[in-house]
Amino acid sequence: MRLKLISKLTISASAVLIIFMAIFAYVNLATMRKLLLEEAILDADKLSETIIKTTHYQMLEDDRERVYQMISEVGTQADIERIRLITKEGITIFSTDKNEIGAFLDKKAAACNMCHAGEKPLLHASSMNRSRVFRVGENKEVLGMAKAIYTEKKCYTAPCHFHPKDARILGVLDVIVSLDGMHRQLASYRNKIIVAAIILLGITSLCLSLSLRQLVSKPVKQLLRQTEKLSRGEMDDSINFSSADELGELANSFNIMTQKLKNARNELEEWARTLEVRVEERGRKLKQIQSQLVRSEKLASLGKLAAGVAHEINNPLTGILMFASLTRKNENLEPSVKNDLDMIITETQRCAQIVKGLLDFSRESVPQKKPSSINAIMDATLALIENQSRFQNIAITREYSQEIPHVLVDPNQIEQVFVNMLLNASDAMPSGGKILIKTDTRENHVRVTITDTGTGISEENLEKIFDPFFTTKDARGTGLGLSVSYGIIESHGGKIEVESAVGIGTTVTIILPLPEGNTYAGNP
Ligand SMILES: Nc1ncnc2c1ncn2[C@@H]1O[C@H](COP(=O)(O)OP(=O)(O)OP(=O)(O)O)[C@@H](O)[C@H]1O
Ligand SMILES: [Mg+2]
Repeated sequence: MRLKLISKLTISASAVLIIFMAIFAYVNLATMRKLLLEEAILDADKLSETIIKTTHYQMLEDDRERVYQMISEVGTQADIERIRLITKEGITIFSTDKNEIGAFLDKKAAACNMCHAGEKPLLHASSMNRSRVFRVGENKEVLGMAKAIYTEKKCYTAPCHFHPKDARILGVLDVIVSLDGMHRQLASYRNKIIVAAIILLGITSLCLSLSLRQLVSKPVKQLLRQTEKLSRGEMDDSINFSSADELGELANSFNIMTQKLKNARNELEEWARTLEVRVEERGRKLKQIQSQLVRSEKLASLGKLAAGVAHEINNPLTGILMFASLTRKNENLEPSVKNDLDMIITETQRCAQIVKGLLDFSRESVPQKKPSSINAIMDATLALIENQSRFQNIAITREYSQEIPHVLVDPNQIEQVFVNMLLNASDAMPSGGKILIKTDTRENHVRVTITDTGTGISEENLEKIFDPFFTTKDARGTGLGLSVSYGIIESHGGKIEVESAVGIGTTVTIILPLPEGNTYAGNP
């Protein structure tokens, strides 16, 4: 059976209380019985004394009938069992119990033994020593009180008497009284003690149970509830009782432990959450690096092929162009032949242009780097192309940061990159628009952003724009501008990023590293 803590405590405290109360009641009842018995002995002694005194005269007169009558009358009182007169020889000469008259009592008998226990009989004894308690029948307890009748002067001087002078004791008056009254009193007293004990026990148990509930059960229950919550992983609540005892300390420690567990769990969760983000970020970077590698490899192999083709085609092209131009100078030519020759010259020039682009793309020239101002290179580029008709309807805005330190670059190659970007922007805005050019510095690199309000690039094309020969401009474009620019920026240790939204515009960001030790601490 599962008993609650409070029940166990109450039961054990009550058991201790019951044991104490039982001992207390036993001692109390024993004392009470002793007192009541002493009182009964005194009463019996007084009664004996009264009988002797009231029958004194009749005894002197030797009026035995009268004496016996008087004793009989006294013996009719309630609680008096019997009264008897015993001679010093041990013969019961009178008793209120007629059956006893004439009976001989041995000195060993209980009534005599009190004084006749020793070798010499006691002449005087205290009322206590003259009394005896014994049982009559099954349950009845009685008190016997023997009182000696002493010889007086009158006894041996009276003419009627025959008692010798040296007879010190004439006989014994033995009064036997019932102790029922005493037992009734004791029973009533015992009942009162039992009722008082039960009431006291009830009140004590109730008070004990209430205070235990308040001081122990409630806090323990709260602790138990909190422990269960903790095992379910609920850590938001705390125990809200405070007492300056062990339970209060336990609650406080429990709250601290819960808070620490919560913090540890939060840390773990945060760690797991950021781990996911970090893994994602790392994965994204790896993917980027992989696509860069693929692109570089593609460019390298294409570059070799392009270099070979361009080199082989360049000489015949020069020849075609030279001979076509020379033939075209002949004035006697038919107009239709002249037109055909013009066409040959234009297309050959276009071919030469493509070859030049291929050579640029494949050229493995090491950049001639020198400390240069990015803003100055951009200004030079703009001066070169700004006046071209394609930029007529385009508003160019410059937002340069003046705090950019010089970067180590080949100014010609960087200028070529800028030209490519600006030409692409103008191609995307045939009916005009805006170009915003920004330069600034971040931590250890310089950033150049060129934003246009052109057609934008679809998501599908965005993946291919750096591929050599990818163009959406038909015959007008070679698809080499971004590939060449990518190669140049890569050889400078930088990178190109393109963000675009169809119908809104494109932003190209060119990132160039700052030389070691020249990092810019500000954040313009
Ligand atoms: N600013 C831009 N706005 C819209 N599309 C662009 C932009 N820049 C590049 N593109 C797209 O990327 C393609 C590739 O550009 P890239 O500069 O490599 O070649 P191209 O401009 O087509 O030809 P080339 O530069 O050799 O004359 C372009 O055809 C165009 O579709
Ligand atoms: Mg281009």
